[in-house]
Amino acid sequence: MESFYITTAIDYVNGSPHLGHAYEKVLTDVIARFRRQRGDRVHFLTGVDEHGQKVQASAKKRGIPPQQFCDEVSAEFRALLPKLNITNDDFIRTTEARHQRVVRQVLQQLHDQGQIYLDEYRGFYSTRQEQFLQDKDRNPDGSWPEIYGEVTEITESNYFFRLRQHQEWLVDFLMQNEHFIFPAYRQKQVLEFLKEPLNDLCISRPRERLEWGIRLPFDENYVTYVWFDALLNYYSAVADKPGVWPATIHVIGKDILVPPHAVYWPIMLHAAGLPLPKGIVAHGWWLQRGAKMSKSTGNALNPLDLVAEFGVDAFRYFLIREMNVGQDSDFTLEQFMVRYNSELANNLGNLVNRTLNMTTRFAGGVVPAAGPDTELEQGLRALWAATRDAFIPLCEDFQFHTALERAMVFLTETNAYIEKRAPWKLGKSAAPEDAALLRTSLATMAEALRLAVTLIQHVTPATADKVRAVLGHAPGPDWKAELDWGGRLTGAKVAPALVLFPRPAPPTKP
Ligand code: ME8
Ligand code: MG
Repeated sequence: MESFYITTAIDYVNGSPHLGHAYEKVLTDVIARFRRQRGDRVHFLTGVDEHGQKVQASAKKRGIPPQQFCDEVSAEFRALLPKLNITNDDFIRTTEARHQRVVRQVLQQLHDQGQIYLDEYRGFYSTRQEQFLQDKDRNPDGSWPEIYGEVTEITESNYFFRLRQHQEWLVDFLMQNEHFIFPAYRQKQVLEFLKEPLNDLCISRPRERLEWGIRLPFDENYVTYVWFDALLNYYSAVADKPGVWPATIHVIGKDILVPPHAVYWPIMLHAAGLPLPKGIVAHGWWLQRGAKMSKSTGNALNPLDLVAEFGVDAFRYFLIREMNVGQDSDFTLEQFMVRYNSELANNLGNLVNRTLNMTTRFAGGVVPAAGPDTELEQGLRALWAATRDAFIPLCEDFQFHTALERAMVFLTETNAYIEKRAPWKLGKSAAPEDAALLRTSLATMAEALRLAVTLIQHVTPATADKVRAVLGHAPGPDWKAELDWGGRLTGAKVAPALVLFPRPAPPTKP
């Protein structure tokens, strides 16, 4: 069994979770479920980033101690996970002792190795990004880009990590590991960024300016820079679990790729003599009218509202179907409704209704053994084989949106098959060859439905379970074997009806 360790970014707890956070969890869960069903030994970590200026400021605004503030907001982030059907194995908070211990250990080790030194810092700082800025970060007109929020000038003594010393090593590493970052064009951007000499990384904050952080083990007057603390969560969570580290994939948003995950993190690990992760997946942003949804700008959507109204699978399906991993996507309720109605309610929902209804009406609710095949059935089976064979490699390459599109085509064609075969006509005929065709058609639609929901079960797990339950089918442990077209449902007793994706009630008149 292959070990597959996957992580999400850990969210700042300075505000409630929004659609962007939910997307990252769902995407990671879809990858984790996909690997698990293929037989990998998956470990899935998510969590929260609780230290730093932002959190301290948010707590102060509420007039409560930072720990109490973190407890409250973290509970909210954690509660989101089961509602999204996320199968994480662990949840880490950076205020936990297990994390703080490892951070201090690594800092001490790097300090002992001469990788960390004290120096005077003079420059600009963005609290929103928890990042020191340089002149090259300015707009052409000298102002600071919007994404940095308020920028302040500071002078202070601080500890620095010898980032520069490892720059050539990192360039070599990226050249030798061409597929380290997905999408590939992002890796090129990192190499572009590395053409300029790196500055050493300031990794401390004086406690008089920032109290809310992990103290440096070699100087109690300082706390650790939030990124140095946060990145180590991936390692600290499994430091005492043999055989898990290194991570297979870190799933993150594109805003935190360069420099934190693509530059600081590999160099930190390399300097500490720890194995590197196998890869990073950098997804794009959910936008609203072209602007990034974020806690800071207040244009964020609450994912739980959508889940409450349309169900968790419709929500998961939409995010994965709509977004091409790596690119940005505008979120509109109109587009959500288009996919909900045409793909889930009409296409999938319709096949469910027809299968249950006709099996009940024409076969006493028991899936019959198929009679002889005709060209129609053979065509549908060939489409199934092509769909399945294309779907799996698409998922391996994170092309979930295209994979789902292929699954939808198979469902459309299955519905078209039913139209052509017209079991309702066969059911009225007294001819024995029509009775045989009727059995074939009922067996075919039930089998096609079982296969389709099994194929997309990592995206819509609750739907797959419900459909298999109404088809009277308990799946075996081997997912790939479940994708073979066969007579698995012969003799199964089906339920008379199942409403999977109800039409939302029309808006009530004011
Ligand atoms: O950056 N669309 O936390 P965070 C898609 N604590 N993804 C989005 C998004 C959007 N509109 N808005 C945010 C941090 N995200 C750090 C991470 S990791 C060691 C530390 C994603 O709460 C964002 O890209 O600002 C990031 O991957 C995650 O949500 C957490 O963002
Ligand atoms: Mg952010």
